[in-house]
Amino acid sequence: MCSNLGHKNKAVIEAICEQARKLPYIAPSFTCDARADLTKLLLEVFPPGLEKFFYTTSGTEATEAAIKIARLYTGRYKIISRYKSYHGSTAGSIAATGDFRRIPVEPAGKIDGVIFAPEMDLYRSPFGFEFENRAEATANYVEHMIRNEGNVAAIIVEPVVGTNGVLVPPKSYLPRLREIATKHDVLLIADEVMSGWGRTGEWFAVNHWNVIPDILTTAKGVTGAYEPLGIMATTREIAEYFESHYFAHGHTYEAHPITLAPAIAAINEYRRLDLINAARKQGEYLGSQLESLKERHRSVGNVRGLGLFWAIELVKNQKTKERFFEPEDKLAGKASVLDRIAVELMKKGVFVQSWLSHFIVAPPLIVSREEIDEGIRAFDESLKIADELVEES
Ligand SMILES: Cc1ncc(COP(=O)(O)O)c(C=O)c1O
Repeated sequence: MCSNLGHKNKAVIEAICEQARKLPYIAPSFTCDARADLTKLLLEVFPPGLEKFFYTTSGTEATEAAIKIARLYTGRYKIISRYKSYHGSTAGSIAATGDFRRIPVEPAGKIDGVIFAPEMDLYRSPFGFEFENRAEATANYVEHMIRNEGNVAAIIVEPVVGTNGVLVPPKSYLPRLREIATKHDVLLIADEVMSGWGRTGEWFAVNHWNVIPDILTTAKGVTGAYEPLGIMATTREIAEYFESHYFAHGHTYEAHPITLAPAIAAINEYRRLDLINAARKQGEYLGSQLESLKERHRSVGNVRGLGLFWAIELVKNQKTKERFFEPEDKLAGKASVLDRIAVELMKKGVFVQSWLSHFIVAPPLIVSREEIDEGIRAFDESLKIADELVEES
């Protein structure tokens, strides 16, 4: 899900070599051509209003910068995240992670002040039952938290949740969160590390709902993963606060020229190859093919996604939606039937991420129909392993 441009994009490779010849490193207190040129390009592709950029070397560090900025700017310290989320692996970012990866590092390896809201999951309601106005109620609960907690600085969300199952929210959900954040003067942080750069068929997933966050973090696809670059983007108003307040968040490789030059090339390639539209178009085809797996395989419980960002969730029982694998199994180091399927897929030359009871299907944006068909064929053969383990409902 980060190799958006595939492996051998000549323009990106050349940009890295050229930058290495021209200026392989400069301290972050200096600017350089690559930094200026990339910043200008970002102003064209980021949601309007996000116009100040802090360059990191990972999504994790972008989350750290976002949390720090939200706390310093608002003078408050609580961060609302959601259970089905991942925001990175360092102390602040793992603390903001709702999924089971946070649990083994508690309490020593994380920061305080993060509280969790329910996720917006249409297949598995965290409330245990389904009700009509789920989107509204799930968002409204965040407002309830803000009111009752006090000291809330920010809400952090993946607009389309990634590893935790490609959860695409109903259309009212994110606009409602935006409304709540604005009303309570709380910052909205969109973590687009996975969902950005065309993955969902827009430059950034928030564009689907015309939501502009106060902070947007991203990484992965910005260079097509050819070099490790993360970005924390924010508004001029928030950034200006730090003109007169010290922002202690520097690091040696911040705005490293060799990470910036390939981002320029990658953005130019997204445009030249029209990959944002391709993601939308090929995504529709991929989605329809994945949906068809559901008809042929009794282990497929749910298929969901947007653009070239999809999940296939497997269940032991269609009626109870019992999963094949639980977070506790993962923490205990067990292998799952999904891992076995992933091995079969790999033997057929298809790599997908198996995660608990779902697969993440996120091919490069240059994927062809033939390659999608090849992947679907591989799934058709390999899913039989799980089909045999399904209980009658
Ligand atoms: C939504 C999200 N946020 C943050 C991160 C952390 O990014 P990185 O692995 O570049 O540190 C990831 C990584 O997968 C992610 O998916």
